Amino acid sequence: MDVGNLVCDRPDPGRFRVHRSAMVSPAVHELERQRIFDRCWLYLGHESEVPNPGDYARRVVAERPLFFARTRDGELAVFHNTCPHRGALVCRTDRGNAEAFRCFYHAWTFDTSGALIGVPDVEGYGPDFDRGEMGLRSPRFDSFRGFIFVCFDRETGPLREYLAGAAEYLDLVADQDPGGMRVIPGSNRYGIKANWKLMVENSVDGYHTPFTHRTFFDYMAGTAGDDATAARNRRGVGRSLGNGHGVMENEAVYPRPIAMWHPSYGEEAKAEMQRIKDDLVARHGLEKALRMCEKTRNLVIFPNLVINDIVAVTVRTFHPTGPAGMDVTAWELAPAGEAGVRLRRRLDSFLTFLGPGGFATPDDIEAIESCQQGFRSGGVEWSDLSRGMHREPRGNDELQMRSFWRRWQSLVAGTPHVERYERGPTPGAVPETAPSPELTAAAD
Ligand code: FES
Ligand SMILES: [Fe+2]
Repeated sequence: MDVGNLVCDRPDPGRFRVHRSAMVSPAVHELERQRIFDRCWLYLGHESEVPNPGDYARRVVAERPLFFARTRDGELAVFHNTCPHRGALVCRTDRGNAEAFRCFYHAWTFDTSGALIGVPDVEGYGPDFDRGEMGLRSPRFDSFRGFIFVCFDRETGPLREYLAGAAEYLDLVADQDPGGMRVIPGSNRYGIKANWKLMVENSVDGYHTPFTHRTFFDYMAGTAGDDATAARNRRGVGRSLGNGHGVMENEAVYPRPIAMWHPSYGEEAKAEMQRIKDDLVARHGLEKALRMCEKTRNLVIFPNLVINDIVAVTVRTFHPTGPAGMDVTAWELAPAGEAGVRLRRRLDSFLTFLGPGGFATPDDIEAIESCQQGFRSGGVEWSDLSRGMHREPRGNDELQMRSFWRRWQSLVAGTPHVERYERGPTPGAVPETAPSPELTAAAD
């Protein structure tokens, strides 16, 4: 297999195809482990999950058990979840608060900054036994606007450089509240029998929406009296953000907790939504505030972090379990000061649209699992992602997927990455584009 030719990228005739072995091959999966997941910055968690000294949360990232904590001094710490003694998992619960971390196997004890502070029968060790060398080990980590990332390669550049144009989109989330954003405790976790890259594609695929999620649109039309054609005809843009990151940014046609009122919120919510909007305008200026309130963003940070800033703000990460499987975890972000009915409304959107039993996610899982089943059929070697190559990229085109695949190809093959922005507009501008013919047709 020639891994340098799994992506066919020919801007001139407007051809962009991905060889389906990228989705089914165990050899490709192994290369991804070595060249993507062991080298890129990967999302670990959010600083708001450990607000107080002694708070901790555990995760598995790229098959590695890790945990992060707030030290007694208030610093953020990230640890490999393995005992320096003989290997046991030191942190064995998903989250909590601890004075210290004691390994359950032989009771070595570590303080919240990872230092070894207790060893039973320490006299049993010789004079060379150096507690200072036996603390918990930390991977390389950094955080940006509260989002914590880890990287298992010392050669990879710093996080801020890695995030490239995606940093601006994290700002658009983090700036929604002067007190910052917080992760609501608890998460959705589920498995999907499909290649993880199909989840990336699906997360920034705007034009499947009216077809795949028909039930949701019919429901909204029936309950809130919405005209479904508004969703089909929404305007927007797709962008490549550098380093494989991409986004689709569309005009919002459904309610947004920040701060786009909708009849489903009730008349009594109108004044408060206006107050939130006025506050955003005062803090960020009219242009940025309106962008925050009235546009939706589906962001992919290469390789496996998706932030859907739509009817709720969902942070979703997924890790391959093999060429045809992945484990997904999703959290809901809310303004730190949000409570009461506003928070309930947000969580309702998180569950009823984006949750694993909601309106959208089961449809999406069915779609990508059916793609994976289809790959087994054979007879077709390539999948097409060329939509929009010959025009200004619209939100419902596929530029944001191509930016992912270009980066993926360069990392897997070990070839230089060439940023191709195609005809993308400068970040910040959302051109008024006409609806695509397919969507217009679907409105009939
Ligand atoms: S493995 Fe942790 S104390 Fe022995
Ligand atoms: Fe979808």
